[in-house]
Amino acid sequence: MRRAIYPGSFDPVTNGHLDIVARASRLFDEIVVAIAQNVQKEGLFSRDERIAMLETATMSFENVRVTCFDGLLVDYAHEIEATAVIRGLRAISDFEFEFQMALMNRKLNDSVETIFLMPKEEYTYLSSRIVKEIARLGGDVDAFVPDFIATTLHRKLHA
Ligand code: PNS
Repeated sequence: MRRAIYPGSFDPVTNGHLDIVARASRLFDEIVVAIAQNVQKEGLFSRDERIAMLETATMSFENVRVTCFDGLLVDYAHEIEATAVIRGLRAISDFEFEFQMALMNRKLNDSVETIFLMPKEEYTYLSSRIVKEIARLGGDVDAFVPDFIATTLHRKLHA
């Protein structure tokens, strides 16, 4: 069984994330989408809300499951016997942070390989942060997230 972990904040999941899930799910037997604590980011949604949103958004993928973890990514990858970490690479601006994280994770555990996948061009400028900002300011995010996430975002920000 070839299992990969796709970690992230997913606050909330976007069409860009789902594009990466689709690509990864064709390469591995199982993809574990894992919500991690990013200490540098304060979340809009709780962990439980993110899990619920991701579970709904990935329902159509038979080999994808959703979890969350605390602590180091490499430790969790080892615990669930994942041999690869999937990360989406959108633009050069992502590269420095991703490069640092991949090499640090390799230093911490050399048996977990980081694999970068590129989303569709139309998602290269997309991020959860920008989607939240647009939604907060009353803009339309329908093209960037699944419909039910757009509704959830609107409810959360404008209730
Ligand atoms: O979606 P994000 O916020 O870019 O994801 C970053 C994330 C959550 C993957 C990263 O912060 C992470 O791996 N956190 C877990 C803690 C950890 O292992 N930190 C050391 C990374 S070198």
